[in-house]
Amino acid sequence: MDVRSHNRDAWDRNVDEGNRWTQAVNSEVISKARHGTFEILLTPQKPVPMEWFPQLGGMPTLCLASAGGQQAPILAAAGAAVTVVDNSPKQLEQDRFVAQRDGLEINTVEGDMADLSRFPDNTFGLVFHPCSNCYVPDVIAVWQECHRVLRPGGVLLTGFVNPVRYLFDDERKENGNLQLRYRLPYSDLEHLDDSHVQKIVNSGRALEFGHTLQDQIGGQLNAGFMLTGLFEDEYKESDDDPVSRYMSTFIATRAVR
Ligand SMILES: C[S@@+](CC[C@H](N)C(=O)[O-])C[C@H]1O[C@@H](n2cnc3c(N)ncnc32)[C@H](O)[C@@H]1O
Repeated sequence: MDVRSHNRDAWDRNVDEGNRWTQAVNSEVISKARHGTFEILLTPQKPVPMEWFPQLGGMPTLCLASAGGQQAPILAAAGAAVTVVDNSPKQLEQDRFVAQRDGLEINTVEGDMADLSRFPDNTFGLVFHPCSNCYVPDVIAVWQECHRVLRPGGVLLTGFVNPVRYLFDDERKENGNLQLRYRLPYSDLEHLDDSHVQKIVNSGRALEFGHTLQDQIGGQLNAGFMLTGLFEDEYKESDDDPVSRYMSTFIATRAVR
């Protein structure tokens, strides 16, 4: 199974269907960001604290797996020199749409978050990487690449899914029945039988992986980062997510190279 190719089609389809994480921001949001007022997300609801950002004016910034016409144009309007790397051409098109509409410069690159070899060492001062590493099987490679392309003192802001979300029987979970089923780390490809994987593929949903906290947090530390901030977040009540009724299942971290 070619995960990257399947997930490219899945996210292109999410754009066609207007998924929340693919909706371009409007010109008013961009105009406020030009004046230094903005909120952007690494996780479902809580904006990233302003004190987490370095000075953005002219800052070489990589928005990693972060296309969709949201964070990249906002950071560009706030003064950052933004490159966005994403696997979905239609998600990248959303960033180009906002850039053209509002007169912003954004470098859009189709690529894999785990392979940043097109960028030399020490290229960026900020990497902004919202919840998306659940779409790749190997998160350690992502942290190593982030560390390599960041300059010393550079900041990595990232959101990820608490692996507890992947413990449950999926169909029962949708009905609010949180029955434990899968051992972590989780992989759609390894934990589900062939017919279930085929069902996901046929439905056009992205394939997912539930990385352990050791790989998410320890992985950043082992890559050479120093953790300087962490908060938890959850879906809104209106998203009717049974796990979020019991705990926050998303984590955002700030790390410095
Ligand atoms: C939940 S969306 C995040 C972007 C969104 N703008 C946000 O607000 O968080 C996940 C993104 O990860 C991207 N993605 C999935 N697999 C990827 C990969 N292997 N390399 C780069 N991007 C990938 C998808 O195309 C999608 O744009």
